[in-house]
Order: sequence, then C-alpha cells, then structure tokens
Amino acid sequence: MSDLFKNKVHLVRMAGLFLVGIVAFVILRWWMVPKSFGEYGHYRGAALGEIASLPMHYAGRAACEECHTDIVAQRKGSPHEQIGCETCHGPLLAHAEAGGEPKPALPDSRQLCPRCHSASPYRPKGFPQVVVADHAPEGQCTACHNPHAPKIS
Ligand code: HEC
Ligand code: HEC
Ligand code: HEC
Ligand code: HEC
Repeated sequence: MSDLFKNKVHLVRMAGLFLVGIVAFVILRWWMVPKSFGEYGHYRGAALGEIASLPMHYAGRAACEECHTDIVAQRKGSPHEQIGCETCHGPLLAHAEAGGEPKPALPDSRQLCPRCHSASPYRPKGFPQVVVADHAPEGQCTACHNPHAPKIS
C-alpha cells in the first residue's frame, strides 16, 4: 500500500492540472456563451429578435395575386400554378408595397426555364425536360411558351 503512493507527488500534479483545466473551461464557458443562450432552448434566445428584425424581400404570392388577376387567370389549371410568382420573378416586396413602381425587369427565360427543365438524369423520370440545345438552340423560351401556362397544345 505504502509502495503504491510512494510517488504521490505525480498524482498531486495531475490533479492540479485537471483543476486548472476545469477552472479554465468554466471561465471560458462563462465568457464565450452568449447571455441569452438557453432562454428558450438549446440556442441563443436573442437570435429570434435579430432574425425577425431583418429587412424583408419577398411579398408572397397572395400579394401578387391581389393586383395581377390577369396572370392568376392565365395560370389557372396549369402545372405552373403551383410555383410561387417570386420563384421566377425574384423578390419583389418593394414593387408590391409601392403598388407597381418601379416596374420590375422581366426574367430572361433562357436562363430561367432550363434551371428546372434542362434534361438531367438527376430529375424524376416523369418530369418534363428537354435537351435545350436540340429543343430550342436559340432565342427565348417565351417565344413559344407562355411562362404562366406553358403547355402549347
Ligand atoms: C398593389 C398592386 C401590385 C402588387 C401587389 C404587385 N404588382 Fe406587379 N405590377 C403592378 C402594376 C400597377 C404594374 C405595372 C403594370 C403595367 O405597366 O402593365 C406591375 C408590373 C409588374 C411586372 C412587369 C410587367 C411588365 O409588363 O413589365 C411584373 C413582372 C410584376 N408586376 C410582378 C409582380 C409580382 C411577382 C408581384 C408579387 C411579388 C407583384 N407584381 C405585386 C401592381 C402590383
Ligand atoms: C415559371 C416562372 C414564372 C412564374 C411562376 C410566374 N411568372 Fe410571371 N413571367 C415569367 C416570365 C419568364 C415572364 C416574361 C415573359 C416574356 O418575356 O414575355 C413573365 C411575365 C410576367 C408579367 C408581365 C406581363 C405578361 O403577361 O407577360 C407579369 C405581370 C407577371 N409575369 C406576373 C406574375 C405573377 C403575378 C405571378 C404569380 C401569380 C407570376 N408572374 C408567376 C415567369 C413566371
Ligand atoms: C421552379 C421550377 C420551374 C421553372 C423555373 C419553370 N418550370 Fe416549367 N414546370 C415546372 C413544374 C413543377 C412543372 C409540372 C411538372 C409535372 O407536371 O410533373 C412544369 C411544367 C412545364 C411544362 C409542361 C406543361 C404541361 O402542361 O404539361 C412545360 C412545357 C414547361 N413547364 C415549360 C417551362 C418554361 C417555358 C419555363 C420558363 C418560362 C418554365 N417551364 C419554368 C417547374 C418549373
Ligand atoms: C420554337 C418553339 C419553342 C421554343 C422556342 C421552345 N419550345 Fe419548348 N416546346 C415546344 C413545343 C411545340 C412543345 C411540345 C408541346 C407541348 O408540350 O407544349 C414543347 C415542349 C416543351 C416541354 C415539355 C416536354 C415534355 O416532355 O413534356 C418543355 C419542358 C419545354 N418545351 C421547355 C422549353 C424550354 C426550357 C425552352 C427554352 C430553352 C423552350 N421549351 C423553347 C416549342 C418550343
């Protein structure tokens, strides 16, 4: 027994190191963890207010549909009806709140449509897709397709 603790100074040093480590951890934790952490759960409570106060950019389709009833009528029954206006037109809250001014730039369909419809083995098999270079080597897709009701016949 006495043999076992013959060199107990090693143990004391080790315990001391652990103690320093624990104290450092507690101090760092107190210093680094944000004050509102844990207020509502395992995240920084103040983040909620910060996110809520960020400026908004999207109006949502309900707002668009209030004024653009002609487009709503065009989209009726088309598979594109399910797509939000701002998915294609981009964030337009400023336009919606100002009641139409400034007039937003129209999307470039040659950029826009292939994002969802260019042929790719990664898309579901039944999803309508075209090899753009064969289907429409040049020009706007909207030369033939109405973007709000794209079926031609
Ligand atoms: C308060 C009414 C109002 C709201 C809400 C509104 N718009 Fe408009 N929008 C207008 C008016 C007015 C014009 C100009 C119409 C014109 O010159 O034909 C316009 C023009 C546009 C144009 C350009 C048309 C063109 O011929 O160049 C687009 C695209 C458009 N709006 C999309 C949207 C989208 C998407 C939303 C929803 C985020 C939206 N608008 C919300 C009133 C509104
Ligand atoms: C699938 C993409 C897509 C969606 C979804 C979409 N648009 Fe469009 N929209 C376009 C494109 C592309 C044009 C430009 C057409 C052109 O260049 O002739 C356009 C044109 C317009 C115009 C100009 C006038 C016209 O008839 O061409 C308005 C206004 C408009 N969109 C409003 C809306 C509103 C409101 C919604 C939602 C209810 C909506 N769009 C949803 C792609 C879309
Ligand atoms: C955000 C993705 C998205 C964009 C952008 C988009 N589409 Fe579509 N499109 C769809 C979806 C979703 C469907 C419905 C697919 C289905 O029925 O499985 C569809 C269906 C279609 C169809 C088949 C219509 C029918 O009735 O069978 C055509 C044609 C089409 N889109 C052309 C276009 C053109 C042209 C543009 C550009 C103006 C465009 N799409 C932009 C998502 C998109
Ligand atoms: C010269 C006219 C023309 C142009 C330009 C054109 N298309 Fe088409 N597209 C057609 C016709 C015709 C059909 C077959 C009829 C239909 O399904 O509406 C078609 C069908 C489609 C379909 C449905 C395919 C399917 O399997 O159901 C998609 C998606 C499509 N086009 C996307 C595009 C895209 C994206 C562009 C622009 C890069 C474009 N089209 C440009 C004439 C055109």
